[in-house]
Amino acid sequence: MIDELKKHLEIVNNFSSDSPETIEAFRIEYLGKKGLLTHFFSEFKNIAPKNKKEFGQTINELKNKATNKVNDLKQQLEKKDGLNKAFKDLTRPSEPLEIGARHPISIVKNQIIDIFSRIGFNVSEGPEIEDDWHNFTALNLPEHHPARDMQDTFFIQTNPDVLLRTHTSSVQVRYMENNKPPIRTISPGRVYRNEAISARSHCFFHQVEGLYIDKNVSFADLKQTLQFFTTELFGKSKIRLRPSYFPFTEPSAEVDVYWGLESETDYKMTKGTGWLEIMGCGMVDPNVLENCGIDSNIYSGFAFGMGIDRIALLLHQISDIRLLSENDIRFLEQFKSAL
Ligand code: PHE
Repeated sequence: MIDELKKHLEIVNNFSSDSPETIEAFRIEYLGKKGLLTHFFSEFKNIAPKNKKEFGQTINELKNKATNKVNDLKQQLEKKDGLNKAFKDLTRPSEPLEIGARHPISIVKNQIIDIFSRIGFNVSEGPEIEDDWHNFTALNLPEHHPARDMQDTFFIQTNPDVLLRTHTSSVQVRYMENNKPPIRTISPGRVYRNEAISARSHCFFHQVEGLYIDKNVSFADLKQTLQFFTTELFGKSKIRLRPSYFPFTEPSAEVDVYWGLESETDYKMTKGTGWLEIMGCGMVDPNVLENCGIDSNIYSGFAFGMGIDRIALLLHQISDIRLLSENDIRFLEQFKSAL
C-alpha cells in the first residue's frame, strides 16, 4: 500500500498542464469526494500498527502536494489568461510616451538651414579644433594683425598653431580649397572665444556663416539674399546695412533688422532704437579667394556670418544665454511643441 502511495507522489510531482479541463480532472481524481485521497484515508484503519506512522505521513504529504499542485497550476493559468486579455483589448489606452524636445539652438539652426537650402545653399562642416591658416591667415589675418585681438582665441596647450576656431569662416576656407565655383554653402557650427561669461555672451556659441561665389556676384545679390532671409526667419523685411570692417571682406557691413518698438521687451532688446544687429557680411576680399585657390579675376563672392544663440534668445524670448548650455530639463522641456 505504501508503495502505491509513493507511486502517486511521483505522479503528482511530475504532473503539469495548461488546460483547465485536465487540471480539474486531476483535482477530482486526487482531491475529489470520491478521489484517491479519500480512498487512502479509508484504508488507514487496515494498516498494521507498526506501519501506521509512515503511512500517515506519506498520505499527508500526498494531500499537500496535490493541493499545492492544483493551486499553482490554476494561478499560472489565470496569469496567462490575464495577459492574453490585456493584449486583446484594443480599446485600452496606451502607455503615455515621453517625447523629447529639440534644443532651441537646433530649432533655430534647422530653420536657418531650411531657408538657405530653398535658395540653393548646401551645408558644410569642419573641425572645431583648427590651425592658424584656416582660422586666420587664409582669411587675410596674418600674424600680428591687430584684428586678431577682436577674436580672443583659445589656444590648445602652448602651440599657437592649434586653436579652437573663433568663427566658422574656417569652414569656408576649407570649402573653397576643396571645391570649384560656383559655390553656395552655409556652415553652421560651434565656435569659441575667450570672453567673460554673462547673460548676453558666452565663451562658446554657435554660428551660421554663408558663402556665395560665382562670376559677377555683386553687393546687390548679397543685399537681396539677406532681405529674403530676414523676411523668412523674422517675418520682418526692413533691413539696413551699416559700413563695418572685417579683414576678409571688402566692403564690409553690419546688418540690422527693424524689429519694432511695440513692447517693453522690444525696447530692451533693441536698446530703444527698434533696430537689431544680427550679422556681419561683405564681399569676399580678392586676397582670400586667391589664398584658397580661386581666380579673383574671374570670380567674386559675398560672405555673411551670424550668431545663432542670440537669435534663439530673441525668437524664444529667453532672458539669459547661459540657460542654453546648462541643460536644465525644466528649461529644455518647454520646447516640446517647437519644430
Ligand atoms: N566671421 C565673422 C565673425 O565671426 C562674421 C562674418 C562672416 C563677417 C562673413 C563678414 C563675412 O564675426
